[in-house]
Amino acid sequence: MSVVKCPDCENLFAELDRYIDSVKDNTGVLINVLHKAQEIFGYLSEEVQQHVSEKLNVPLSQVYGVVTFYNFFTMKPKGKHQIRVCLGTACYVKGADKIMERLQDELGVPMNQPTADGKFSIHAVRCLGACSMAPVVLIGEDDYYGRVTPDEVSKILDKYRRAE
Ligand code: FES
Repeated sequence: MSVVKCPDCENLFAELDRYIDSVKDNTGVLINVLHKAQEIFGYLSEEVQQHVSEKLNVPLSQVYGVVTFYNFFTMKPKGKHQIRVCLGTACYVKGADKIMERLQDELGVPMNQPTADGKFSIHAVRCLGACSMAPVVLIGEDDYYGRVTPDEVSKILDKYRRAE
């Protein structure tokens, strides 16, 4: 399934830019901006790091250096199966927060932390471009689950728990 851009996801970089514009004249702002970027995107991809570098006029090598120095920054969603729970507006009003809670209970980990066996990690995203199927969960790159209810979470996870 292809991801169709919707206003929520198109606005993510704009949201980051607004934050950068509000703080960029302060000293030592890079770490704060990277925190905000990770909060918005879930992790700091090369594309996001490049964007921050350009917006702050800081060498990419410096951005990369900070990202790799602090272990609270991550450049990749972690866990063999990355579970992305959409907390965008359309999904949130359809109960995405309950899906997030159930996933964390089932797997026993908070967001952005892999399970002990490394099989799963849970990440919040702001739109998966499938708002008509809200609430939406994406596992890996292609497995979209729409209109998910909390009671379906365990069954969905079982499919991946069984697979090696
Ligand atoms: S808000 Fe668009 S897929 Fe959730």
